[in-house]
Amino acid sequence: MKEKIITKKILKWYDLNKRPLPWRKKVSVEKKQYYTLISEFMLQQTQVITVIPFFNRFIKNLPSINSLAKVSEKKLIKLWEGLGYYSRARNLKKSAQVILKNFDGKLPDNFEDLITLPGIGNYTANAILAIAFNKPYIPLDGNIERVLKRYLYLKKDKEIQKDYLLQKKIVFGKTLRSSDYAQALMELGALICKPNNPICAQCPIIKNCKSYKKKDFSLIKNIKKNKDKYFVLKVYKKNQRYLLIKNKKFNFLKNLTIFPMEELSNPKNFNKNLNFKMSNMNMNIKIEYSNDNKKFPYSYWVDGTKMNSYMLPSFTKKIVQYLEKN
Ligand code: ADE
Repeated sequence: MKEKIITKKILKWYDLNKRPLPWRKKVSVEKKQYYTLISEFMLQQTQVITVIPFFNRFIKNLPSINSLAKVSEKKLIKLWEGLGYYSRARNLKKSAQVILKNFDGKLPDNFEDLITLPGIGNYTANAILAIAFNKPYIPLDGNIERVLKRYLYLKKDKEIQKDYLLQKKIVFGKTLRSSDYAQALMELGALICKPNNPICAQCPIIKNCKSYKKKDFSLIKNIKKNKDKYFVLKVYKKNQRYLLIKNKKFNFLKNLTIFPMEELSNPKNFNKNLNFKMSNMNMNIKIEYSNDNKKFPYSYWVDGTKMNSYMLPSFTKKIVQYLEKN
């Protein structure tokens, strides 16, 4: 009974407070499915506010599964440039190709088929089934997880494990408006039940919230620390130009243009010049200038003063910016 009531309250709150995000626009059934696929891939590791302009540009250039399946690598990467985690873009294109080949060009509407598509895991399959197909699934993203932990006051180690949370999400109940409901729960986490300073006074489920009763909103994180990794980055510079290579070696930024780099396994006294958080790594980078005549396959010389005219990952652009300043 309680679940029915909170479901209603959350939906009512959503109807009045939802943000007009571009993938929430009223469009044809086919477009809704495509928009959900694209937005969910983009939102996997990137915040809503960043995704909005990329999403708009992407669907303008590639308005259908068909056009996505046929896009050139170059155009695809250009459209993704700035979002990072480029494997998402490649998986998106591969998924579009599989959809054309195996599913008659239509996004599958069941979990077993969705999960076979590259880049679609448990979370994204749940999100697509709920949002695009209005099926009674609740995708447990960071926002919904936070609402759940606070609502039930889950603090103990065993209570904050993924499997436990997946069982507990049934407290959110069911509704015929599954598509809106999945997004309403995400929106509640994003706008009200924020990580710091939740706005409880505006929360539609304040009455039953255990954290509110206890006046304790702190969250226990299941800490997954980024792995420390160490790289020496070689700078070859002639006049204003830097030598860059196509990355065939590392799994991150695969096939994209980077500086020549070597990974060190257990370096002593490593003095880093730069640090990046990328692909679950805490990357520590030491810069070494070099002028040996080593030959690199797939290499290019780029002008450090004209970076905007090249198609490069932001990782490489940031390193050039650093070199130009130091
Ligand atoms: N995060 C993941 N999917 C989302 C969506 N559809 N709307 C807002 N935030 C999200």
